Amino acid sequence: MANPPLQDSAEVKVLMNSSSRVLITSALPYINGVKHLGNLVGSMLPADVYARFCRARGRDTLYICATDEHGTPAELAALEAGQSVADYCREQHEIQKNVGAGFELSWDYFGRSSSPQNHRLTQEFARALWANGHLEVRTTKQVFSRFEGRFLPDRYVVGTCPHCGYDRARGDQCENCTRVLDPVDLINPRSALSGSTEIEIRDSAHLFLKQSSFAEKIRAWIDTKKTEWPPLVTSIAYKWLDEGLQDRGITRDLAWGVPVPDDIAGGQLKGKVFYVWFDAPIEYIAATEEWADATGKGDVWRDWWTNKDVRYVEFMGKDNVPFHTVGFPCTLLGVNEKKNDPWRLVDQLKGFNYINYDGGKFSTSQKRGVFMDAALEILPADYWRYYLIANAPESSDSNFTWAHFAGVINKDLADVLGNFVNRVTKFCAARFDGIVPVEGEYGEDEQALIAALDAKIKTYTDYFEAMEFRKALGELRAIWVLGNEYLTKAAPWTSVKTDRAKAGASVRMGLNLVRLFAHLSWPVIPLAAAKIHEASGAPPAILPWPDQPMVQFLNGLTPGSVVNVPDVLFAKIEDTKIAEWEARFGGTP
Ligand code: 2FM
Ligand code: ZN
Repeated sequence: MANPPLQDSAEVKVLMNSSSRVLITSALPYINGVKHLGNLVGSMLPADVYARFCRARGRDTLYICATDEHGTPAELAALEAGQSVADYCREQHEIQKNVGAGFELSWDYFGRSSSPQNHRLTQEFARALWANGHLEVRTTKQVFSRFEGRFLPDRYVVGTCPHCGYDRARGDQCENCTRVLDPVDLINPRSALSGSTEIEIRDSAHLFLKQSSFAEKIRAWIDTKKTEWPPLVTSIAYKWLDEGLQDRGITRDLAWGVPVPDDIAGGQLKGKVFYVWFDAPIEYIAATEEWADATGKGDVWRDWWTNKDVRYVEFMGKDNVPFHTVGFPCTLLGVNEKKNDPWRLVDQLKGFNYINYDGGKFSTSQKRGVFMDAALEILPADYWRYYLIANAPESSDSNFTWAHFAGVINKDLADVLGNFVNRVTKFCAARFDGIVPVEGEYGEDEQALIAALDAKIKTYTDYFEAMEFRKALGELRAIWVLGNEYLTKAAPWTSVKTDRAKAGASVRMGLNLVRLFAHLSWPVIPLAAAKIHEASGAPPAILPWPDQPMVQFLNGLTPGSVVNVPDVLFAKIEDTKIAEWEARFGGTP
C-alpha cells in the first residue's frame, strides 16, 4: 500500500499538522458556468483560507485547482451556448479564473482538466491499471438514440426516476431523490439533446475498474483516519464500503474527453473516452505539472506528489466525498503497485455540508441564489469571504438569508472590526498628530489584555490547524471584541485631558492591536487586512502569523511612524438593499 497505516496518536497528528510542506487541492469546479456561493464555501474558499493560513505560518504551501472540463455537463452547456466544446471550455475557464481572482482565491495554479498534461497522465494511469490487472472489458447495455445516431450516456438522457417517479431525472442521478442511476434504468427515456424518444438499448464495450478488490485495503486506510477526519467524511466513506464496493465503468461513448489509448485491451475501446470522474481527480496531479511547466519548475511537481514530507489536504462538498475516499484512492492504489515512488493519498480531507438559499436549494437553472460573479458586482470579496467562512456548513447544512448576512456584516465587520480601526486611527490623527505616540508606558490593563490575547490567539490558531472554520472565526471575533473593550475602558479621549502619557500608551496599544488584527484576519479578509495594516502605521509587509508572545508583538510599532486613517472599511448594509437583493436573487418561480 502507498501509505503505511499511521498510528492514531496525538503525536502523529501534531507531526502531521506541523509538516512544513502542504499541498492543498479544492474540488474542481465544473466548467459549465460560474459557481454559486454554495460551491464556493464547500471547497475553493476554505481551501484558500487554509492555504493563506499555512503560508502565514511559514509553510511551503501549494494550492492547486482547475476547471473540470469533460463529461456531459460540459458538452450540454456548450451545445446550449451554441459553441464548440473546446471554445466553450476555453472561454469559461477564463471567466472562472477571473471571478476566482476577484474573490482573492490564491491558487498557485488554476489548471484545466482538458490540458495535454492531464491527457498524458490519465492515459499513463490507465495503462498502469491495465498492466496491473485492475481493469476489465465488459459488455454493457447503453441507451442509443436512433434519431441522433449516437449513444446517450449520463446526462444526455432524461426520464422518470424508477425510485421516486420524478419525471426529469437525469441518466446519472435523480436530482429529486439524489439516487445514483444508470441511464438504462430510466422509465420513458428521452434524449436530453432533442427530446426524441426514438431510443433503444444497445451493447457497448467499456473498461471497468475492479474496485471491489480494493475494499479491504480502502477500509483499513479509512480506519487510520477515523479520529482525524470529520465524522461527515468518514461516515460517507463507511456507508459506501458497507454497501459493498462496486466495480466502476471508467469509459464513455463520447467524443470529448481523454481518449482511451489503443494499446489498452487490444484497441477494443477505440473512439471512446475516459469517464469524467476518472480523469478529474488525476487533474489534481496534472494541474501541478501544468503549474511547474508554466513557472519553469521542471520535475518538481512529481516531488509534491510523491514526497512523504508533504502533507496533502483536500477540500470538497459532501457529494464529492465518495469519489475522494473510495474512487480516486482505488485508482491510486492500483497505479501505485510496482511503483517505487508511489503517488500520495490524501492525508487530511475536509468535507462540507450544503448551504441553502433562503430555505431552498441554490439553482443554476432557476437562477436562484447568488453566483460568484453577481456577488462581486454588489459587494467586495471580503464581505462574502467573512460571512461564508464564519457560517461554513461544517456540522450541518446551513441557510443563507439576506437578513442574516446583513446582520453579520453590520455587526462583526462594521461595528466591531471597522469601528475599532476607525476609532483608534481617527483619535490618533486628532490628538497625536497622526503618528504612533511616543509617550507613556503600558500598565496593568495592558498586561491583562496581553495575557488574554495570548490565550485567545492560541485557541484561534488551534482551530485553524484543525480546520474548524466556524469556531476559528468565533475566536477571531472575540479577539476583535477584546480590542474594543480595552479601548472603551482605557478611554484615551478622557485621559488625554489630564494624563497625556497614559492616553499615549492607550493609543499606541490601540494601533498595535490594529496591526495585530490585520495579521490575524488576513487569511479570511485579505483585502481589508492590507488596508488595516497600512492604517496602523506599520511598514508595508506580507502578514505572517503572530507566533511570538503578544508582549513582543504589541510593542512592534515604531513610535513616531505615520498612521493612516482609512476610508470606510466596511459599509453597513441597509434594509433597502436587502429588499432589492431578495427580489433580484430569488429566482424565477
Ligand atoms: O462535483 C463537482 O463539481 C466535480 N466537478 C468535482 C470534481 S473534483 C475532482 F475529482 F476533480
Ligand atoms: Zn428519484
